[in-house]
Amino acid sequence: MARPTPVNVTVTGAAGQIGYALLFRVASGQLLGPDTPVRLRLLEIPQGVKAAEGTAMELDDCAFPLLAGIDIVDDPRAGFEGANVALLVGARPRTAGMERGDLLSANGGIFKPQGEAINAGAADDIRVLVVGNPANTNALIAASHAPDVPSSRFTAMTRLDHNRALSQLAKKTGAAVTDIEQLTIWGNHSATQYPDIFHASIGGRPAAEVVNDQAWLENDFIPTVAKRGAAIIEARGASSAASAANAAIDHVHDWVNGTTPGGWTSAAIVSDGSYGVPEGLISSFPVTSTGGEWEIVQGLEIDEFSRGRIDASVAELVEERDAVKGLGLI
Ligand code: NAD
Ligand code: LMR
Repeated sequence: MARPTPVNVTVTGAAGQIGYALLFRVASGQLLGPDTPVRLRLLEIPQGVKAAEGTAMELDDCAFPLLAGIDIVDDPRAGFEGANVALLVGARPRTAGMERGDLLSANGGIFKPQGEAINAGAADDIRVLVVGNPANTNALIAASHAPDVPSSRFTAMTRLDHNRALSQLAKKTGAAVTDIEQLTIWGNHSATQYPDIFHASIGGRPAAEVVNDQAWLENDFIPTVAKRGAAIIEARGASSAASAANAAIDHVHDWVNGTTPGGWTSAAIVSDGSYGVPEGLISSFPVTSTGGEWEIVQGLEIDEFSRGRIDASVAELVEERDAVKGLGLI
């Protein structure tokens, strides 16, 4: 039987911590499935190329049956030529003395040329996941410089927040994570995000009823999930890496292969105006995927408690969008 054509997967920031945790899983088939060969393109800045070469040597040493080849480049045009899947991990972290505007501007310098390169040379079925922070706004910048690519192909990662919420809820209730369904992360991948259990079920029962502890929800669950990234940095001295890579795998796997029938997950995708989120913002929603397309779950009732929290996170996204607009980045 003829071997299927490899799927071209570009990973930026390949020499970083998440890159190291991600690439081996992509090459082993966990991103796209056990029957899909992949060709990896590692995009780094020149200073990162040598370390990326080291990672590529280790990838070779795994002799992964599905790995059809590895290229290492430091030019975005070469990085995205023919790419079917792009994992945009490399970003400029905030350093001491950096203002928010400086951070947005530094990331604009990365995601604008990457968006342009995706527009110029990526494959027609390109699917982009932005992991590098501020992820939602970086995705917005990239999308706005790729006018020939449908904006629905640009997404940002809130799957890590979703998985964190699943795990916290499972711990609280003694349920297995697999018993929990229809949990949602709304808004921005930041401390304003809103992990929503009001449509979730645990073993078929409403999650809020199983939890039955509004104080825990407000004072423990929501802040723990929303501030988990900072807690990991505090504990490890470095931001989450393996869990972030795991979430990136989950996001793209579900996007390409479909979500479980009847269930949903969370992803930051371009808003069509649903749930009062301004059209065009890249915001996290409850989503399903079929046929390789994300769709926002419609018709959920949003009570006052949830409304206030969704609005606060969306307001932050609007602020970020206006800031990058002001900087001429979109
Ligand atoms: P890291 O500093 O270990 O690695 C980043 C890599 O990106 C470096 O190797 C650097 O050389 C490279 N890079 C920088 N600019 C680049 C460019 N223009 N093109 C290609 N490569 C470039 O960082 P990390 O721990 O791997 O994290 C990467 C990003 O992911 C950070 O922005 C982090 O905040 C973010 N993150 C997001 C989530 C999420 O849930 N969305 C979770 C964890 C981390
Ligand atoms: C996370 O959620 O773990 C990261 O986004 C934190 C960070 O600032 O890198």
